[in-house]
Amino acid sequence: MRIVFIGPPGVGKGTQCKRLAAHYQIVHLSTGEMLRSVDRESSLGQRIASYIDSGGLAPDDLVMQILKARLSAGDCRTGCLFDGVPRTLVQAHALDEHLLGMNAQIDVVVALEAETTALVDRLLKRAEQEHRADDNSEAIQHRLAVYREKTAPVLQYYSQRGLTESVDAMDSPDEVFRQICQRIDRRRS
Ligand code: AP5
Ligand code: MG
Repeated sequence: MRIVFIGPPGVGKGTQCKRLAAHYQIVHLSTGEMLRSVDRESSLGQRIASYIDSGGLAPDDLVMQILKARLSAGDCRTGCLFDGVPRTLVQAHALDEHLLGMNAQIDVVVALEAETTALVDRLLKRAEQEHRADDNSEAIQHRLAVYREKTAPVLQYYSQRGLTESVDAMDSPDEVFRQICQRIDRRRS
């Protein structure tokens, strides 16, 4: 199974993908984590920080290059969870084309939904515990705007193909997990 998770910042993509990866024994690919893991002292790391710290997107070609390299590893052969990618229509087309070359495809797209005020509250709460450079009011507002402008059309792209399952992510993490599993299991059977 190849499952794409789409949703605004703070909706719970990472939280749910971690649990689902363990539950379904499947690889979790987060482009946000991949980008943040590049050494900030390196010139590539500095370039990445210049995009992501303010809440903007990293360039499509850079993201796809990193993602394709990761997809070529053996552990992705049977499937994976795409957390936060594709985030633009260009990435969605590029991923489709790449998967086609692997004789694979996206099977389900889970759209996580929550109210904007809840998203902002979650991210500001996380900022008190963790130190992500983009968890501050200004960057959060920018991330939300970028989501609406660049990523929402990706959801439409998949919905037109009947791949989307919408899940209310305002519930507790346990309930959201249960809802997602239910949709995935239904699609698999
Ligand atoms: P990325 O790392 O993907 O960040 P994001 O999309 O902004 O989302 P978050 O990771 O902040 O939130 P999440 O949905 O994973 O929620 P989480 O589970 O953490 O991307 C970061 C940046 O990298 C982008 O802005 C961009 O610059 C760049 N980037 C990444 N991918 C890219 C791409 N494909 N193309 C270009 N650029 C890219 O939960 C959030 C908080 O809420 C946590 O504290 C959690 O404990 C809590 N929480 C979770 N679920 C619940 C719940 N049900 N109830 C209450 N609290 C909850
Ligand atoms: Mg995340």
